[in-house]
Amino acid sequence: MAMELKIEFDRFKAPNKGVVVLFCDDALKMGAASRNLLGDAAGLIARAAEADGFTGKSGSALDIIAPAGLKAGRLVVVGCGKPAALKSKDFLKLGGIAAGKVPAAAKQATIIAELPAAAMSPDAVASVAAGAMLRTYSFDRYKTKKKEGEEKRGSLDLVIATANPAAAKRAWAASEGVAEGVVWARDLINEPANVLYPEEFARRTAALRKLGVIVDILDVKAMKRLGMNSLLGVGQGSVHDSRVVIMRWNGGKRGAVPVSFIGKGVCFDTGGISIKQAAGMEDMKGDMAGAATVAGLMHALASRKAKVNAIGAIGIVENMPDGKAQRPGDIVTTMSGQTIEIINTDAEGRLVLADVLHYVDTKYKPQFMIDLATLTGAIMVALGQEYAGLFANDDKLVERLVAAGEETGERVWRMPLGPEYDKMIDSKFADMKNTGGRHGGAITAAQLLARFVGKTPWAHIDIAGTALGSPQSDISKGWTSGWGVRLLDQLVRDHYES
Ligand code: BES
Ligand code: MN
Ligand code: ZN
Repeated sequence: MAMELKIEFDRFKAPNKGVVVLFCDDALKMGAASRNLLGDAAGLIARAAEADGFTGKSGSALDIIAPAGLKAGRLVVVGCGKPAALKSKDFLKLGGIAAGKVPAAAKQATIIAELPAAAMSPDAVASVAAGAMLRTYSFDRYKTKKKEGEEKRGSLDLVIATANPAAAKRAWAASEGVAEGVVWARDLINEPANVLYPEEFARRTAALRKLGVIVDILDVKAMKRLGMNSLLGVGQGSVHDSRVVIMRWNGGKRGAVPVSFIGKGVCFDTGGISIKQAAGMEDMKGDMAGAATVAGLMHALASRKAKVNAIGAIGIVENMPDGKAQRPGDIVTTMSGQTIEIINTDAEGRLVLADVLHYVDTKYKPQFMIDLATLTGAIMVALGQEYAGLFANDDKLVERLVAAGEETGERVWRMPLGPEYDKMIDSKFADMKNTGGRHGGAITAAQLLARFVGKTPWAHIDIAGTALGSPQSDISKGWTSGWGVRLLDQLVRDHYES
C-alpha cells in the first residue's frame, strides 16, 4: 500500500482538527456520543441535510466544510439506513464509505463508531477499521511525480472513537491480518508482469516464512520429475521458468487432516499461439489473482494464528507465443496420467490447475480442495462482477461457501455440473480436450477440473468477474479487489478450526 495509514482506537471525544465522520439512520438520528460531540452544532446537520436532500439513506453522505461551532475542519455524516440488521460486511462498507469521504489532502480523521441506538460492538468497530484500510488502498509505487492539481495521498492518522477502545483493539488484532492479506493480494495482482514473473512471485511468497508458514518451491526439474507436463506445457513458450509453491500453515492439531486451497497463477496470459486481441490485454497481468488470493489467505490464517492445518498450492506460469510455445493439436500427459488435447492455447488455466489439483489431492489427501481462478470470460458474461461462479461436487461445501459469502459480501453463485457437460470435452485423439465449444464455457472449464479431483470434496470458484473489483464496491474503488481472502478466511473461521 502506498500511503501511510495509522489506525488508532480511542474514547469518544471531540477532535480539534481534521475530518470527523459520524453515522446517522434514515431519520437523521445519531447516537449519544455523536450528539454530545456536536453540541450546539447539531442544528447544522438538519439545515445542511435539508439543503442537500440528505435523508440518511444507507451509503449516502453529507459533507459540511468548516462546521460552525466545531474545531474539526470538516464534518461528514454517513447514512446507515435502518441499522437494526447490520452484518459485518455492512460495517466494512460503512468504514469504506467513511474513508472514501476523507479527502486525499487530509492528515487526520476521526470516525465516531457508534450507531443511533447504541455503541458498535468491538467486532463491528474492527470491521469499520478494515473497511477504511481497504478503501484507502492505492497502488502507486510506479508514479514518480504528481501532476498539477493531482492530490497524491500522504499519510493519514485515522482515529476510530469507540465506547471500548481496549476491546476494539483486541478485535482489530484478530482481524488486521486478514485485511493485510487482502492488501498483499492486491499488490501482487497490480504488479506488472515484467516485475512479477513466476520466479519473482515464488520469491515473494517466501515472506510468509516469518509468520511460521512452511514454503516449498518446486522448480522445473522437480515438476518434470513429478510429470506435471500439463502445467509445464503452458509455460514452455516463456523465457521465465514455471514454479509451483506449496504453503503450509500448521495451526491445528498435530496430524489433523488439512484443508486446501489451490490458485491459478498465470503471471501474464497472452493466449499463447491462440493469441488474444490487443484491446484490454494489459488486464491479463492479473491472471494470477487466484494464486495471489491463496497467498493472501495464508497470510491471513497465519497472522491470526488460525487453529487449522491449511495448505495453499499455486501453479505459476507465463502463457506466451514463441517458437517453443505449445500448439493447438498438441497432446499433453498430465501428472494423473490422463491426456489432454490442446484445442486452444488460451484455455491454459485449467491445464495449470489439472496438475496442481492432482498433486495436492494425492500428496496431502485434504478434507477438501477449493480452487480459485480467473478461468473464463464466460463467467463474467453469466454473472457480471457481483458474484463469483461456484462449481462443486459437495453440497455441504456449497452451503458453507454461500453462507460465508453472505457474511463477508464476497458472494458466490452455484453453477451446474453434469455428465452431459462433461461429454462436451471428450476428444477424438486424447482422453479430453481443453475447450468444449462456444456454449457453457465456464461449465466445461469446470468439468475439466472435475476430472482431476477424484472423490475429494471440491469447489471451484471462477473469479474472472470479481477479481478486478466491482465498480459498485465501497472498499476497492478502481483497484483490484483481493476478492476471496475474506470469504475463505470466514469459511475456515466458521467451520474448520479446532
Ligand atoms: N484468463 C482468461 C480468462 C479471463 C478473461 C480472465 C477475461 C479475466 C478476464 C482465460 O485463460 C481465457 O483466456 N479463457 C478463455 C477460454 C476459451 C479460449 C475457451 C476465454 O474465456 O475466452
Ligand atoms: Mn487464457
Ligand atoms: Zn488465463
